[in-house]
Amino acid sequence: MSQFLATHKRDHRCGDFRDTHVDEEVTVYGWVDSYRDHGGVIFIDLRDRTGIVQLRFEPWVAEGVAHGLADKLRPEWAIGARGKVISRGENINPKIPTGAVEVLCDTLEVFSESPTPPFEIKDDLDTAEAIRLKYRFLDLRRNALSRNFQLRSQVYRQTRNYFADHGFLEIETPILANSTPEGARDYLVPSRVHPGSFYALPQSPQQFKQLLMMSGMDRYMQICRCFRDEDLRADRQPEFTQLDLEMSFVSVDDIRALLDGYVRGVWREVLGVEVPTPVPSITYAEAMDKYGIDKPDLRYGLPLTDLTELLRGRIEFRIFKGALDAGGIVKALYLPEGKVFSRKDLDKVIPAEAAPFGAKGIAWARVQPGGSWSGPVAKGVDDALRGELNDALGAEEGGLILFSADKRSVVNAALARIRGVAAERLGLIKPNTWSFVWVTDFPMFEYDEDEQRYQAMHHPFTSPRYDEIDQLETDPAGVKALAYDLVVNGVELGGGSIRIHRSDVQHQVFRALGLSAEEVDEKFGFFIEALRYGTPPHGGIALGMDRLLMLLCGADSLRDVIAFPKTQRATDMLTGSPNQVDAKQLTDLSIRTVVDD
Ligand code: AMO
Ligand code: AMP
Repeated sequence: MSQFLATHKRDHRCGDFRDTHVDEEVTVYGWVDSYRDHGGVIFIDLRDRTGIVQLRFEPWVAEGVAHGLADKLRPEWAIGARGKVISRGENINPKIPTGAVEVLCDTLEVFSESPTPPFEIKDDLDTAEAIRLKYRFLDLRRNALSRNFQLRSQVYRQTRNYFADHGFLEIETPILANSTPEGARDYLVPSRVHPGSFYALPQSPQQFKQLLMMSGMDRYMQICRCFRDEDLRADRQPEFTQLDLEMSFVSVDDIRALLDGYVRGVWREVLGVEVPTPVPSITYAEAMDKYGIDKPDLRYGLPLTDLTELLRGRIEFRIFKGALDAGGIVKALYLPEGKVFSRKDLDKVIPAEAAPFGAKGIAWARVQPGGSWSGPVAKGVDDALRGELNDALGAEEGGLILFSADKRSVVNAALARIRGVAAERLGLIKPNTWSFVWVTDFPMFEYDEDEQRYQAMHHPFTSPRYDEIDQLETDPAGVKALAYDLVVNGVELGGGSIRIHRSDVQHQVFRALGLSAEEVDEKFGFFIEALRYGTPPHGGIALGMDRLLMLLCGADSLRDVIAFPKTQRATDMLTGSPNQVDAKQLTDLSIRTVVDD
């Protein structure tokens, strides 16, 4: 073991040095960030996760031994050095917090060398992400990433404290578990002991946390890993972390107040931002109507207007008439500053943004002096109707109306997207502004057109509104759930619900979902049985911790807040997983693959 390490204790981390440390004899450790030789005096920027400090090596100090060694240093070598903190006098570097001082070194030890790294370790980097992920251990040395994980750790500590202070027990639940119906595909793990049988990695600990309420644990929290095999996006990873919570004997209002306090504390501590509480709420129906989406970004206005009833039987424009006749709807987004979109935008950019949601186009009208219109829709609208439409939209000269006509789901999704594009173009999204909103009164079920049956909108353990339980059999589509989502700047941060605490109601919900008695028994028999033994009313929520951190760090992707994330194709570029396994391993598991190699 190095004598240096044994005898030289680290006094400070690199980013700590200030002019108050002048004259201290110090020992520092870190990585060589850069090397400069100024006429015989060598300057090394030494980096660790806290920042950078300048080391100075002079040929006449300590007989030049340290200086001689410093001359060989290259970026990313791991070193230790000892010396005296001195003022940089006139030469202070205002760009870094330690810029007033440097360490005049008399001792240097190289712990390990490094080949030239595949990319420079600096914050503004345009290296392809695939390379950065392959060398993630180097990528994480960059301050831009490293600080995200320091923040993550701070938030975890604050989270544990907050919930401990509110009477929560931290309890772990199994990873080798059974299938949880959260709506994604399961990751399966074959059992060696039971050939042909599989564990499922938890999509969430939903059933376990409810069982803990049945066990009398009263308040449970866990920062847990969840696994979902689904199509990945910037805000979705196959394995991600939830702050998972469950409480007994609570109402929706109790849960909301607790979470309001939590996010308020985190935003205050991390960003110095005061989140106004109670966080306001919007019903699912209103969110869909006004913003076309159940996670509206309320940092800006730009509401949508439903024109279906106004246009029915009166509109000549072929596309709108066709959509209405087919049982669809017409909605519009009105932009007072219409010039934000050029003719080229209207012809190309806007339809291309809407197309992935199934929209075949986005019709438009520019409002001219006197309220007349130009654009493809103008000809199909008579003066009286146009006047009414202008009134309904608040449209005035210079404004732009963007229309979508199609099935409700297509119209909403397309215009929600265009609303976001418009807000960005108009510069309505200001840095460090926050909109928190609870979305409430979700429907219990949504109709799955592919499978021709109802699916649980949240999950099948969610309680219907108590006054609508009777409607489960007669009008399932009309039943609302005691479910809520917490939405921040258009990101679904968390979702939860009051749960069903009666086995008869749970049975009814499974029936409404089209599950046979046998299926219920096979998949959820243990759970229904447990519900029979004095289950307390209970409810909870789970927040996506990666999403929370992504918001707090101002990152664009979850990958920037997950140390070893997966790519869009669910691979780990660093370790190469998923990979092939030995034939023997498969034999032990009684598995035969059908993939050609
Ligand atoms: P839900 O499925 O809504 O609820 O998930 C809760 C939160 O987890 C986050 N999340 C994800 N984050 C990253 N990648 C993913 N693939 C991913 N999927 C979900 C989101 C989401 O809001 N058991 C219920 C909670 C409950 O009812 O208490 C559940 O898991 O931020
Ligand atoms: P026209 O040139 O008269 O055929 O009008 C076509 C216009 O209608 C273009 O602006 C298209 O983008 C738009 N359009 C096509 N389909 C739809 C639709 N389903 N909803 C709204 N606008 C559409």
